[in-house]
Amino acid sequence: MQTIRQTESLREAVAAFRAEGARIALVPTMGALHAGHMALVEAAKRTGTRVIASIFVNPKQFGANEDLSRYPRKETADTRMLKEAGCDLLWMPPVEIMYPQDFATNISVAGVSDGLDGAARPGHFDGVATVVTKLFNQVRPDTAYFGEKDFQQLAVIRRMVIDLDLDIEIVGVPTQREDDGLALSSRNIYLDDEQRARAVALPRALGVAAKAIGRGDDAEAALDTARESLRAAGFEVDYVELVDAETLAPDGDPARPRRLLAAARIGTTRLIDNLAIELV
Ligand code: PAJ
Repeated sequence: MQTIRQTESLREAVAAFRAEGARIALVPTMGALHAGHMALVEAAKRTGTRVIASIFVNPKQFGANEDLSRYPRKETADTRMLKEAGCDLLWMPPVEIMYPQDFATNISVAGVSDGLDGAARPGHFDGVATVVTKLFNQVRPDTAYFGEKDFQQLAVIRRMVIDLDLDIEIVGVPTQREDDGLALSSRNIYLDDEQRARAVALPRALGVAAKAIGRGDDAEAALDTARESLRAAGFEVDYVELVDAETLAPDGDPARPRRLLAAARIGTTRLIDNLAIELV
């Protein structure tokens, strides 16, 4: 696996892959890789496809009070994991390439970015959309892989790709979880043992609510029960909402795919999770 940090070298390596007739798949990440990220790499690996992973801790998507400075950085372990997984190229652009001094452009996807995490983290999805557009233009992949774990992010990217006529197929990969159901996340390492034990309340509360809504129980009551059980487990609840799975508009027409999304804080650690509503 090659590790590349300069745009010119990246372009040459991608051109060499293209000259082989390969398709290019991109897996954008911020590093501190775990089995959730590796599931994206696995999904991207197909015959005739070269897999490029990127690692860039994107300052534009962190708010002023967020964890940019303490965000975990594990270059050596990440490189080893990607190599062992059969990734072909690691793109690690330095911040001067991503945001040169005079950088002035912002990509903002209205609507899907506005509520939920967008409301709780102003500017976050503009930062994501902007950096992902840059990564797309640097690598020019045929396909790009994103986790359903960050469901609103996936919806923002899908909307942006349609709106900007980007010729890139976006693939969503199901959330990878620990044995007890907690979604894998780079932020789980911030949890102490006691918080880690209580964190399982998040997937459990979503599971109970998704099942209740799926069998036709009152949605507001199910959401309230979920919020209450999170508080009982020691979480501060940012939101637990039922939305349309594509537009992320509130409530959601039961005839269309719907999704339950939640964000809650345990101590200083903010966790997010989501589940599909399956009608029974
Ligand atoms: P990061 O948090 O590193 O996540 C990179 C990708 O891995 C995202 O698509 C995310 O949804 C996916 N992922 C994380 N945990 C997962 C899990 N448990 N199961 C499945 N997929 C999981 O998301 C970002 O980085 C950034 O916002 C980025 C898109 C790279 C832009 O900076």
